[in-house]
Amino acid sequence: MKLLSVNLECILFFYICKEIYGNLLLIAIALAELEFCLMRGVRMRVIAFGAGEYGKLYCRYPDIEVTIVAVADNSEELIGKRLFEYDIISPADILLQKYDKVIITIENVNAAKSVEKQLNEMGISNVEVYDSIPVMSPKVQALYRVSEIIESRSILGSIAECGVYRGWTATYLNSYYPSRNLFLFDTFNGFDKKDTYLESEESIEWLSKRGNEYSIPIQSHYVLSKCKYPWNVTIQQGYVPDTFAGLENEMFAFVHLDMDLYKPQLSALRFFADRMSKGGMIFLHDYYRPDLPGTRKAVHEFSYEREFFLIPSAGSSHVALVLCNG
Ligand SMILES: C[S@@+](CC[C@H](N)C(=O)[O-])C[C@H]1O[C@@H](n2cnc3c(N)ncnc32)[C@H](O)[C@@H]1O
Repeated sequence: MKLLSVNLECILFFYICKEIYGNLLLIAIALAELEFCLMRGVRMRVIAFGAGEYGKLYCRYPDIEVTIVAVADNSEELIGKRLFEYDIISPADILLQKYDKVIITIENVNAAKSVEKQLNEMGISNVEVYDSIPVMSPKVQALYRVSEIIESRSILGSIAECGVYRGWTATYLNSYYPSRNLFLFDTFNGFDKKDTYLESEESIEWLSKRGNEYSIPIQSHYVLSKCKYPWNVTIQQGYVPDTFAGLENEMFAFVHLDMDLYKPQLSALRFFADRMSKGGMIFLHDYYRPDLPGTRKAVHEFSYEREFFLIPSAGSSHVALVLCNG
C-alpha cells in the first residue's frame, strides 16, 4: 500500500516536472530526485544491536535507505541510556518495536555470532551481522574522527564545504555535526571560465575529460533532501568567492575545500583562514593529484601569506591544514 502511494506520487511528480521543465536534462534531474523520494518512502527500519565503537560508527554513518529505530545492547549499564539520539533498549524490548531488520553492530565476529544465536532463540527474526564498517572509506573515517576531536575539544564554530556537487561529503558533514550550522558553497552548475582559464595544462586535460560531469545543473534541494539535519544547512549557491559576502563575521571549526581548481581554492583558503577557531581544521581535497595540481599550487602560494601545519590525511589525496596562529 505504501509502495503504491509512493508510485502514484512519483507519477504525479514526473508529470508536473515534464509540464514545468519540458526539457530532457531537467527531467533527468527530476527523476534522480524522485529516486530519493522513493527511497525515503520505503526506508528500512533498523535496530542496531551493539552500542560499542562499531555501533557508534554505524549510527553516525548516514545511510539514506535506513531509519534507525533504536539501539539494543546486552549491557545492563547501557540499557536506558542513549547513543546519540537513539534509545538503548534491552534485547527483550526489540520484540516491542516496529522494525524490519536487526543489524548486529559488533566488531568481534564470535561475539556477533553469539548475539545472532541469542536473538534467534528469542524468536527475533531478520537478524544480520553488519560487515560494512571495515570498508568505510578512509575519507569518511577521517571526517568522522575529526568531528569527534572538534566536538570533544569544544572547538567553536560552523562547518563549511566549498565544492558540494551532489552532496556526497556534505551529507556526512551534516550527520557528524548534528548541532552546527553547515554552509554549502557551489555554483551547482560546474566550473566557471573565470577559474578555468588560469589552470595548468594537466588540469585543462582533466577538465576536458571529466569537467563536464560537474557542469550538469544540480538543484540544491536535491542535496538538502539527502541531509539528516537539513535545518542546519545553508546553501550558498553561486560563484566562490562572491558567495562569501555576508559571512564575514562567521567563525568556523571545520572546512572542506573541494573545488578542484587553483583560483577558488586559494580564495577560499584566504577567506576561511581569517575565520577559523583555534584548533579548527581545513581539509583540502586533491592536494596530491598530479592531474589536478591547482590545489597544491594554491596551498603553496598561501604559504607565503600564513604559517600553517600540513598533515597528509583522509586517503591518498587529502591534506589537513591547521593554522599556527589560528
Ligand atoms: C569535485 S566536485 C565536489 C565534490 C563534492 N565535494 C562531493 O563530495 O561529491 C567540485 C565542485 O566544485 C564546484 N566549483 C568549482 N569552482 C567553483 C567556484 N568558483 N564557485 C563555486 N563552486 C565551484 C563545482 O561546481 C563542482 O560541483
